[in-house]
Amino acid sequence: MRFPIHLLAAVGLVASAASAAPDAAKPKAPKATAELLAKGRAAFETTCTTCHGTSGDGKGPAGMYLTPPPRHFGVDPFKQGDSIDAIFSTLQSGVPGTAMVSFAHLPEDERWALAWYVSHFLSTKDGKKAKKLVDALPPLTVQGTLPPGPPTSTPPATPATPATPATP
Ligand code: HEC
Repeated sequence: MRFPIHLLAAVGLVASAASAAPDAAKPKAPKATAELLAKGRAAFETTCTTCHGTSGDGKGPAGMYLTPPPRHFGVDPFKQGDSIDAIFSTLQSGVPGTAMVSFAHLPEDERWALAWYVSHFLSTKDGKKAKKLVDALPPLTVQGTLPPGPPTSTPPATPATPATPATP
């Protein structure tokens, strides 16, 4: 018996459509760039360091008092997975029952930037790639303008020297 070829083709199409569907729904990690890591660093500094500390050691001013405490990113194994995708999904869902809340409210590109930045603390393949980019970034500078200091007293203007009358 010959198999109807068009039927096989149709089955193949359905199968490939089905396997493509989950990929289409799942956002894909962007490539690491200096720009992305600069963005990740800025977001980490403002949003994560209170608990995780600037160096990712979990010793931020609030991190020290938490149970469970945030782990040392560079030393302790990750419970939720340490790939870029895994870190992204930790940011999406948070870690229930801990101080690690969901950061799903942050824009998606910022969460990818954060995932890459977190990974730079790790010695995984992606982590090393990220660290190279982070190390090459210009140092962080204080943003914004400083508050005005105390008013500085300006020395009194020197009185204009009276014009000496021209001697005839
Ligand atoms: C209020 C404190 C707090 C803040 C703010 C916070 N975290 Fe966390 N985070 C924690 C704690 C506590 C844990 C550990 C949870 C556990 O024990 O599983 C954690 C866990 C994590 C993990 C999972 C590590 C693993 O074991 O898989 C990642 C990744 C992470 N945080 C990234 C971030 C990023 C990025 C930010 C900033 C957007 C952030 N966190 C902000 C407290 C915080």
